[in-house]
Amino acid sequence: MDLHLKNKVILITGGTAGIGKATAFEFLKEGAEVIVCSRSKNKIDSFLKDAESKGFSPSAFSVDVSKENELKSFINEIGNTYGHIDILFHNAALGHMSYLTQLKKDAWDTIINTNLTSAWMSAKFILPFMKTAGGSIILTCSLASKIATTSVGVYAITKSGIASLTRLLASELAPYKIRVNAVSPGVISSDMVKETVLKTKGLPYACHSAVMQRIGAPKEVAKPVVFLASDAASFITGEVLDISGGKFIVQDPWAPWEDFGISVPYI
Ligand SMILES: NC(=O)c1ccc[n+]([C@@H]2O[C@H](COP(=O)([O-])OP(=O)(O)OC[C@H]3O[C@@H](n4cnc5c(N)ncnc54)[C@H](OP(=O)(O)O)[C@@H]3O)[C@@H](O)[C@H]2O)c1
Repeated sequence: MDLHLKNKVILITGGTAGIGKATAFEFLKEGAEVIVCSRSKNKIDSFLKDAESKGFSPSAFSVDVSKENELKSFINEIGNTYGHIDILFHNAALGHMSYLTQLKKDAWDTIINTNLTSAWMSAKFILPFMKTAGGSIILTCSLASKIATTSVGVYAITKSGIASLTRLLASELAPYKIRVNAVSPGVISSDMVKETVLKTKGLPYACHSAVMQRIGAPKEVAKPVVFLASDAASFITGEVLDISGGKFIVQDPWAPWEDFGISVPYI
């Protein structure tokens, strides 16, 4: 199916690693003009090197999305260069493990600003460059928005905010023919997960609540993002799409595997 994404201008925050990077490559395969940002020079260099080795030439900028001025300048620069922006995938976020009653105010501010405030600001700053021709905004939620892990409280709160922001923006931007949706991953093999849940709890723990009994790969989120961004999803807006291998959809997801004597895949 032709998704009509060729030459579309696509901006991805947190596009140099994990889910964001996999999504950048899916859009590049569709012939889109892809611009990513993240903070660290190492990740940007490695992203550009990988892209070049695959024959792609995306652009990548060093931007901290939690800083209003940096985010605004970045979006304005891209918008003014191309004259418009067709698609925003707001994906940048930080995980943070701490019980809420032990959390420091600085950490609260950092996570709220990086994960939630930046999503709202991105939509606001991009509007002047999207409102004439219409477009698509995809935010990155998390299953933690619905069922949180207690020790990752502030992260879960930001993702609950993303779910609400998705629906509110979908309503507010519908008159401009801008659709707003979110993807809501379960456990996906990325640096964020390797450094948090996989390190502290291990792979079987990460898989046990999903009926597919495995974690996902970044490209398994990337492809649905491309779908939501494309005209194939032209009547879908305000949706938060779970991409989790069926996490928390039954109480005993491991039971059929055990009862049928089939070993679980984990990855
Ligand atoms: N992996 C999962 O299981 C999972 C589950 C649910 C939801 N999610 C969500 O999926 C998204 C991507 O996560 P991931 O697992 O792919 O994580 P990841 O591998 O850690 O990648 C995160 C990306 O965001 C960038 N980033 C972080 N803070 C930033 C900031 N302040 N400004 C700009 N860029 C920033 C990082 O680059 P720099 O370090 O260079 O800034 C990196 O490119 C996040 O929104 C996350 O909450 C992931």
